[in-house]
Amino acid sequence: MSNKQVVVYGASGYTGRLVCEFLREYQVPFIAAGRNQQRIEEALAKVPGIETADYEIVQVEHSVEALTELFTGRQVVCNTVGPFDYFGDAVVQAAANANCHYMDTTGEQAFMLEMREKYADVYKANGKILAPSTAYMYTPLDIAAHIVLEDNSIDAIEAGCIAAGIPTYGSTQTIFSMFQAEHLYLENNQLVPWEKGRGWEVCAPGKMMTQLAHPWGGGSLPLWLQHDHRVHSVRQLTAFTNRPMFEQLIELQQHYEQNLKPLPKDEQEKALKEIAEGMQPGMPPRENKLVHRSTDFVHGIGSGTRRTCAIHTTVPYQLTGLVQAALAVYLLDEQPRKAGFVSSCQAAGHEYMLGSIKKFLPVQVDIY
Ligand SMILES: NC(=O)c1ccc[n+]([C@@H]2O[C@H](COP(=O)([O-])OP(=O)(O)OC[C@H]3O[C@@H](n4cnc5c(N)ncnc54)[C@H](OP(=O)(O)O)[C@@H]3O)[C@@H](O)[C@H]2O)c1
Repeated sequence: MSNKQVVVYGASGYTGRLVCEFLREYQVPFIAAGRNQQRIEEALAKVPGIETADYEIVQVEHSVEALTELFTGRQVVCNTVGPFDYFGDAVVQAAANANCHYMDTTGEQAFMLEMREKYADVYKANGKILAPSTAYMYTPLDIAAHIVLEDNSIDAIEAGCIAAGIPTYGSTQTIFSMFQAEHLYLENNQLVPWEKGRGWEVCAPGKMMTQLAHPWGGGSLPLWLQHDHRVHSVRQLTAFTNRPMFEQLIELQQHYEQNLKPLPKDEQEKALKEIAEGMQPGMPPRENKLVHRSTDFVHGIGSGTRRTCAIHTTVPYQLTGLVQAALAVYLLDEQPRKAGFVSSCQAAGHEYMLGSIKKFLPVQVDIY
């Protein structure tokens, strides 16, 4: 059997490349896979120190059969091919067929709900994880939620992700693809939809001005905590510090609701792809630690209690590559704490995930 037990699918993309970068930091051999050999070669050539990594490039067709063949005999699949609503099912199915652990960078609730419904039992029976949203917008909030819930009087969560940066081509496509679905939060143990086409002002710890936030698909916390007996209500909002971008996003969601929603689904998809192309046609430059700083916070609410955890860090896309690689490293060596549809913290523990981030990036964790 090959010594390469980790497959990065989507290695030619902005995020896939960063997963490869951090696997190299961990000195883990990997397969860099995708639909186009040349694009993967070009992307990996940009990874610092790639000449010291133990990897091979595999071009693979995007089909359940071809992916199952590639994944067979491996242990972990890191999937960064999005929008996941469009491309994710085949990869989740192939990883289940090959009896691998699976993680991705999705934020699309509709996709997560569908994958949970279709495949969670298979993964659970195999002792494997189906871990969506192992990524910046979700993993720090997952860590913060675990910390807040150490207080047993907390039973409701309000979470905010405040990022600085420029969404990539794939992320922009994904944001707009999410307009087609409901964005849900958990209210008294029921998933209920957020109002469409509006934003909310949020006060983030350590910020002077309020931030214009949006459900951004609804987030993963309401789903990960949906069946957690400690919690009955979970809301998650996202803001980029680029306020005009968020004002435009909300206007475009209103445009979708009024003008595009009545169209047939394929015409909606085409129109949304064109809007996304117009906003982000290419790959943004590498992030800068002094510029692309982020704050993720969770307020825990009880009858007479409040507990907040805020995590301040930087370079969100690099953090995504980092947490994917860190979870893969854990899974190569340990059984997950919980199998099936889980978050990275439910699988590996929030202490491990936080410790992994601290190895590579400046982090301040405030708990009060
Ligand atoms: N929530 C977070 O914090 C977070 C962070 C990072 C990324 N993400 C998500 O991760 C996804 C990828 O983002 P990205 O920034 O890496 O985007 P990207 O740079 O556009 O990369 C997309 C990748 O998907 C591949 N791909 C696209 N269509 C495909 C198809 N039909 N068949 C096979 N492969 C296909 C691309 O291959 P080619 O090069 O051959 O086109 C590329 O490797 C997005 O959904 C994004 O929202 C989320």
